[in-house]
Amino acid sequence: MTLKTVIVTGGAGFIGSCVVRQWLAETDWRIVVLDKLTYAGNVESLAPVRDNPRFSLEIIDICDAPAVAGLIARVQPDAIVHLAAESHVDRSITGPGAFIQTNVVGTYTLLEAARAYWRELPGDRQAAFRFHHVSTDEVYGSLGDEGAFSETTAYAPNSPYSASKAGSDQLVRAWHHTYGLPVVTTNCSNNYGPYHFPEKLIPLMILNAVAGKPLPVYGDGLNVRDWLFVEDHARAIRTVLERGRVGETYCVGGRAERTNLDVVHTLCDLLDELHPSSGPHRRLITYVKDRPGHDRRYAIDCTKLETELGWRQQESFETGLRKTVQWYLDNPEWVRGVTSGDYRRWIETQYSTRSA
Ligand code: NAD
Ligand code: TYD
Repeated sequence: MTLKTVIVTGGAGFIGSCVVRQWLAETDWRIVVLDKLTYAGNVESLAPVRDNPRFSLEIIDICDAPAVAGLIARVQPDAIVHLAAESHVDRSITGPGAFIQTNVVGTYTLLEAARAYWRELPGDRQAAFRFHHVSTDEVYGSLGDEGAFSETTAYAPNSPYSASKAGSDQLVRAWHHTYGLPVVTTNCSNNYGPYHFPEKLIPLMILNAVAGKPLPVYGDGLNVRDWLFVEDHARAIRTVLERGRVGETYCVGGRAERTNLDVVHTLCDLLDELHPSSGPHRRLITYVKDRPGHDRRYAIDCTKLETELGWRQQESFETGLRKTVQWYLDNPEWVRGVTSGDYRRWIETQYSTRSA
């Protein structure tokens, strides 16, 4: 399939901005970002591509049906890659409404706009069109000590976040089954890497450690997550977008299961080496009250993606984590903007007059 123009929703977020930076560098596609710029959207994460003539940003809410339809009609995309979401489990516990609105209603709105556009396309473009839904392994619930999630695992979401993502996955599936919309879905494990908003475990621990602040470990610290470097996830999404079978889902993972305590210890040791002036860092570890309904273990079997489409991760957890820590140390301006809240002001100054 030859792609020329791709809409990336949520392209100002952590994974979306990586997708945009990577794909602009590695393809000749025109990429239009559709993003509401919530607290998690940061235009500074798109600074490396700001002047690329094949890049543009549209500040639109995926729940705004006329605006979404208008953009799709103007841009005439060959594919829509859907990452826009509320993404933080802790926020979903204190305020689930935004998760239902964006992840469920927003995905529905986007699917309807995509369907209306797709059904009017000429035959060859209609057959080639793709709606790629980017989702999470958290829809499968929690594992015991053994086993791993795969594409055939039954859905059992436990948090408002994972329930809202599970709802969006089911809508995408139904729009394919009922209307024939050519969809693919990926369900990925926990990502980490540069430009990650510091509410999530890894960036929060790095920035707190450097600042000499406590490192809050929930519960006993023995919950397990499978970690994947964000650039490897972006490559997996592109692989599935270009070569995945329509209507299929693909699990994406790093084969890197770690307890949260393992992760925090490794980060502390890396910072002892790379930023000794704030160390030793393990002394900052502080056990705090557990997250309600905290899933115990996630693990992904990504054999289907590896054997069917030949995807392989390029970064090990150790090399990826070292690069990530180094990136946060090397980018104090990005960090300062995010931690001070200044990144909200960059939106007005840099993008308010741009359009696709
Ligand atoms: P993020 O929170 O960093 O970014 C989300 C982006 O979506 C932001 O730019 C935000 O402004 C935008 N957005 C939010 N609501 C919107 C709305 N109503 N309309 C338009 N834009 C809106 O999230 P992320 O970590 O980059 O995750 C991206 C996607 O990948 C999500 O769908 C998430 O469920 C999925 N995912 C994330 C992980 C992970 O570890 N972070 C793992 C697997 C899957
Ligand atoms: P998080 O990065 O929020 O991702 P998710 O909940 O989607 O897996 O959290 C990763 C793990 O780290 C999870 O088990 C919760 C835990 N955690 C802490 O122990 N302390 C923290 O401050 C945070 C943010 C997370």
